[in-house]
Amino acid sequence: MTSREIKLIRQSWQNLLGVDSTLLGDVFYSRLFFEEPDLEKMFKTTKEQQARKLVEMIDLIVSRLDRLHEVSQEIKEMAERHQSYGVKPKHYGMVGKALIWTIKNGMGKDWNQELEDAWIKCYSIMTGAMLS
Ligand code: HEM
Repeated sequence: MTSREIKLIRQSWQNLLGVDSTLLGDVFYSRLFFEEPDLEKMFKTTKEQQARKLVEMIDLIVSRLDRLHEVSQEIKEMAERHQSYGVKPKHYGMVGKALIWTIKNGMGKDWNQELEDAWIKCYSIMTGAMLS
């Protein structure tokens, strides 16, 4: 990713952290389970825990964008945990769509095509790291 893309992502993420994480999580999981009802049974924890997980997940992506190679072991272990949750490669696109939809709605009028492209790139890099 370019340094501009990384900067855009970090700024927009900081903005979104102003939104209550439970609300953000609610929007994300409601969207995901509305679009992909079959995924719901994979999630065993409470809504609150899932909301925290969502924020944790985005934080992880955003903080390590420029040095994913340094955390390859951690990503490998996270990918293995995901396999044990029953996550398959085809699910990454579904989660990515719901995630970007949530961020877009959270950003409201500050959202634009450049931000969308940067977030799509960011999520696909992370997915690539998880699946490799
Ligand atoms: C780049 C993509 C993703 C990242 C960075 C990510 C990150 C995380 C993190 C940090 C956790 C907390 C527990 C742990 O570390 O094992 C987690 C749990 C979980 N993730 Fe993901 N995740 C991603 C994609 C997905 C996808 C595609 C699915 C498929 C539906 C998924 C389903 C789950 C489930 C089921 C849990 C366990 C939570 C529960 O039982 O409620 N994740 N994820």
